[in-house]
Amino acid sequence: MKGSCIIINFLLFLTVVSVSADEGTPAAGYTDDASLSFNYYTNSCPELEKIVHNILKKWIKKDYTLAPALMRLHFHDCAVRGCDGSILLNHEGSERSGNASKSLRGFEVINDIKQEVEKKCPKTVSCADILTVAARDATLAVGGPFWMVPYGRKDGRVSFAKEADSMVPMGKENITDLIEFYQSKGLNILDLVVLSGAHTIGRTACEALQFRLYNYNGTNGADTTINPRYLNYLRRKCRWASEYVNLDAVTPNTFDVQYYKNLQKGMGLLTTDQLLYSDPRTAPLVAALASQPSVFEHQFAASMVKLGNIQDYVDDDREIRVNCDCVNNN
Ligand code: HEM
Ligand SMILES: *[C@@H]1O[C@H](CO)[C@@H](O)[C@H](O)[C@H]1NC(C)=O
Ligand SMILES: *[C@@H]1O[C@H](CO)[C@@H](O)[C@H](O)[C@H]1NC(C)=O
Repeated sequence: MKGSCIIINFLLFLTVVSVSADEGTPAAGYTDDASLSFNYYTNSCPELEKIVHNILKKWIKKDYTLAPALMRLHFHDCAVRGCDGSILLNHEGSERSGNASKSLRGFEVINDIKQEVEKKCPKTVSCADILTVAARDATLAVGGPFWMVPYGRKDGRVSFAKEADSMVPMGKENITDLIEFYQSKGLNILDLVVLSGAHTIGRTACEALQFRLYNYNGTNGADTTINPRYLNYLRRKCRWASEYVNLDAVTPNTFDVQYYKNLQKGMGLLTTDQLLYSDPRTAPLVAALASQPSVFEHQFAASMVKLGNIQDYVDDDREIRVNCDCVNNN
């Protein structure tokens, strides 16, 4: 697959250079729900959701960890130039090659789905739409809520590692940074707290949190907001940077409000998780969600729709990609 991208990528490189020179960094974000619709593929690809559902089920049965991986992949796609499938492009210097993307997974699932969709409805369904509905189905598969996905996204032809590295939050930001990032995408503080709840499932490489466990900010000790028993556990678990640790230590594989309860006990794994419970702008929301599972489920669905509707690209020559790994050759 990768070989077929080579010639196109050279052309892309040329376009990309001129685009970046003209446009600079992407403009402030907005969500343009009006351009998307629920019945976008009703006639052109009626079996889309069935195909996605069946293929995803097969993969998740083999490897449960692909469910959280796909939810995260969708977030990283939408965080840079909107939900345009730009994270999927697999050429030198693309977002996918950035440091922020190092631990992303699930690309092969999207390619598998895309191949099957191309058989049934060729050149019709964008990779961005496939990734969006795959994230929805992945959420369902781990016990999360259902929501209707509006369709009609186009695939971008522009993708830079440096944009992924400078824009996608990686866990060391402060709450002001996070709020500003969400605001730049048309999302608010409630969306921030609710979507962070995705960390009720999945895992991280210990590498991402070792700075909290030893010599935190030059203090010679750990981050003092970590619950002492949890700290012991993490130090044992994270002897090697390459080990994995669950984001939710109590119910790691279930979509529930345990993530918020953990924050109340000093058991948030990432700094950006734990900080949600110490900042006055977000702490009340954490407390509210911790005690109201149905509110969390309902609002998670609503916030995921907002996330999936981010369309803050500046490049207008978008397309329906045939192969999610590379731009079309035209
Ligand atoms: C608030 C900003 C966010 C930050 C700073 C953040 C940061 C991170 C980090 C550092 C990891 C671990 C990566 C690794 O070491 O492999 C992670 C994992 C994850 N994130 Fe986030 N994230 C954020 C928002 C989101 C959102 C909005 C979603 C989805 C809606 C999400 C879903 C996930 C999932 C499911 C995982 C687990 C991935 C896996 O197990 O493969 N995150 N996140
Ligand atoms: C990615 O990380 C490596 C090692 O941590 C670093 O040397 C490199 O400069 C980083 N690349 C970018 C684009 O930031
Ligand atoms: C948050 O972090 C940014 C840098 O990422 C820094 O400029 C800012 O002063 C910090 N804000 C607070 C309130 O600590």
